[in-house]
Amino acid sequence: MASVGRMMRAIRVQEFGSPEVLKLFKDVPVPSPGEDQILIRVHACGINPIETYIRAGIHFLKPYLPYTPGTDTAGVAEDVGKNVVSFKKGDRVFTRATVTGGYAEYTLASEDTVYPLSEKLSFKQGAAISIPYFTAYRALFKKAHGKPGELVLVHGASGGTGIACCQIARAYGFRVFGTAGSPEGLNLVLQNGAHQVFNHREHDYIEKIQVREAAGGEGINIILEMLANNNLNNDLKLLSVGGRVIVVGCRGPIEINPRDTMFKESSITGVYFYNSSKEDWKEIGAALVGGVEAGWVKPLIGPEYTLEEAPQAHDDIIKSSGATGKMVFAI
Ligand SMILES: NC(=O)c1ccc[n+]([C@@H]2O[C@H](COP(=O)([O-])OP(=O)(O)OC[C@H]3O[C@@H](n4cnc5c(N)ncnc54)[C@H](OP(=O)(O)O)[C@@H]3O)[C@@H](O)[C@H]2O)c1
Repeated sequence: MASVGRMMRAIRVQEFGSPEVLKLFKDVPVPSPGEDQILIRVHACGINPIETYIRAGIHFLKPYLPYTPGTDTAGVAEDVGKNVVSFKKGDRVFTRATVTGGYAEYTLASEDTVYPLSEKLSFKQGAAISIPYFTAYRALFKKAHGKPGELVLVHGASGGTGIACCQIARAYGFRVFGTAGSPEGLNLVLQNGAHQVFNHREHDYIEKIQVREAAGGEGINIILEMLANNNLNNDLKLLSVGGRVIVVGCRGPIEINPRDTMFKESSITGVYFYNSSKEDWKEIGAALVGGVEAGWVKPLIGPEYTLEEAPQAHDDIIKSSGATGKMVFAI
């Protein structure tokens, strides 16, 4: 990849391993865009759990070493390739993928992975859109085939993806329940689309959901599940007839009784951000850009980090509890 002769600060991973392999370099060449690419001055980059799995070498996606992590950037177009038609130098943009990595001062992205960033959102909010919101929309509409009026439980609603699920579901006319593990998280989930909230650290919260739900309906139609290894067994018990659990996050095995799916004809389906087709990217991208304009895509920023703090950020996103929105790098 050609370089424009300038140097930038960027995280480089030279071996898979613990968060400490995220090393900050100050002399990484700024790349120059190919014909269909945009060079972006990155102002913020989203931090996602998947980046920790890839860095640790335990994900099936294994980039060639060395590499710079990060896909969800927001910034300003600095230079565009000669075939690029949708963007020009100076445009505010956000990305759903990068060619050279987003934990850096500059990144390259293909035109088809770049979206306009409205003045309504900050760069940090722009960096919080891609993986969380594309996944949330895909889970609710492409996998659960959700319909307005249905009852959705966002099981783990206080993090980057959970808040996105709540905002989207509320905007499209679903009834929304959300869970969080701290009073601050519960409050934020309530302010971001949930009609009712429950604390998943309370031993009887499943019963509380059942009681409240029983007062108004016949079970939960859709569960968007952030920690299936903890919750899948309970989820099956909470579902309505024809209910669907969508596994968004899972960090290990769990024992379930398949019989729990029989009488309700319920289903368990996974969702994976990267499985979107070209048409899906276009449709979801358009819905989300429209959602920003309409005001219901409004990412909530949680802890912020500098690039120097990358190892801490990766440790925190896996170990911390009491999420309060999306973790981002301010660059
Ligand atoms: N399949 C995909 O394509 C895809 C895409 C995006 C994310 N994901 C996965 O989805 C999960 C969430 O991602 P994220 O970006 O939202 O991460 P995050 O910002 O770190 O949030 C983690 C969420 O999990 C919640 N949680 C903790 N303990 C829980 C429990 N016992 N039951 C239910 N929820 C619990 C946290 O709540 P408290 O901290 O308040 O307790 C918080 O809301 C991760 O595993 C991630 O890898 C998958």
